[in-house]
Amino acid sequence: MTTPWDPETNRTETLLHIGDPARGRNWQAVLPMLVPGLTVRQWPDIGDPAGVRYVAAWQPPPTLFDRLPDLELVFSVGAGIDHIDQASLPGHVTLVRMIEPGLIQGMVEYATFAVLALHRDMLGHFDRQRRGAWDHAAAPPASARRIAILGLGEMGTAIATRLATFGFPVSGWSRSPRTIAGIHCVAGKAALPGVLAAADILICALPLTPETCGLIDATTIARLPRGAMIVNMGRGGHLDEAALLAAIDHGHIAGAVLDVAAQEPLPADHRFWSDPRILMTPHIAGTTDPAGGARAIAHAIERHRRGETPRGVVDRERGY
Ligand code: NDP
Ligand code: OXD
Repeated sequence: MTTPWDPETNRTETLLHIGDPARGRNWQAVLPMLVPGLTVRQWPDIGDPAGVRYVAAWQPPPTLFDRLPDLELVFSVGAGIDHIDQASLPGHVTLVRMIEPGLIQGMVEYATFAVLALHRDMLGHFDRQRRGAWDHAAAPPASARRIAILGLGEMGTAIATRLATFGFPVSGWSRSPRTIAGIHCVAGKAALPGVLAAADILICALPLTPETCGLIDATTIARLPRGAMIVNMGRGGHLDEAALLAAIDHGHIAGAVLDVAAQEPLPADHRFWSDPRILMTPHIAGTTDPAGGARAIAHAIERHRRGETPRGVVDRERGY
């Protein structure tokens, strides 16, 4: 049960930030202005563990939560929460993921870049440039390149809406039914094969959960049309990397843009570094903007103080 904030009680409210020191300094300066009465500390300077009501982190040390008797909310500094060890998080603590415009805008930019690069065969052009080959083949019109997005949440919806403006036919897949203007939306496991069969470019914008882990495996890939391409901007755990490489070798998959990998940083000997049909980036598709992140945290704390549910609360049963 949430204790409403009451300045009369003078209850201590500390937010412990764990992560990038520059963002920590920014939030130490900004958050107390947005949230009266809040003190922000930067890990490992935890101060008095009593009074730490909030933790904001990417990957908090699993033993930390046992030391914080007054903990109420844990904020993921990213949209995903799979990196937080939920088994160590007491049941009464609310987990809140990041929803802020800068992060969404980054994901939209990345998806736009990746789709246009694949659509216009930029990976082929980079390769031919290096080989001094002045070859080209005409790209089909956008209206003939079907895009399918796995995940129609904050990210998938914004990506779908933006890509549709180029004239691509866009469909999207989610767990529960969604309606998005101009997007063909389908839901549930049974609908997935149909989505895949009509995907010239498949984009993964899913959270990593027990249900979505390994979803893009050899079976899923085989359902894509020959010559399809893949963009993974969800998590490395969504993709069977060996299955992707085999499909690329067999010519079933023509190219891939990957922002995430099963092991990050990517091991030095991994083929993703060197295969010209793959563009690998180091998990940079979307990054939380410190100012937008501070506003999102401030709103969440305000709502929490009023006894209301903050935006972005994670359903811990469902896993996202
Ligand atoms: P949301 O929770 O808003 O949306 C998740 C979407 O996935 C929802 O549409 C949900 O369905 C759908 N989904 C979840 N499980 C299933 C399932 N089993 N079958 C079908 N659909 C499913 O998350 P966000 O859009 O904010 O973020 C999505 C993910 O993007 C993050 O979890 C993270 O992994 C990734 N990400 C990556 C970044 C990067 O830099 N590479 C940056 C930011 C995010 P429903 O609508 O029915 O709930
Ligand atoms: C996120 C991420 O989940 O950066 O926000 O991957």
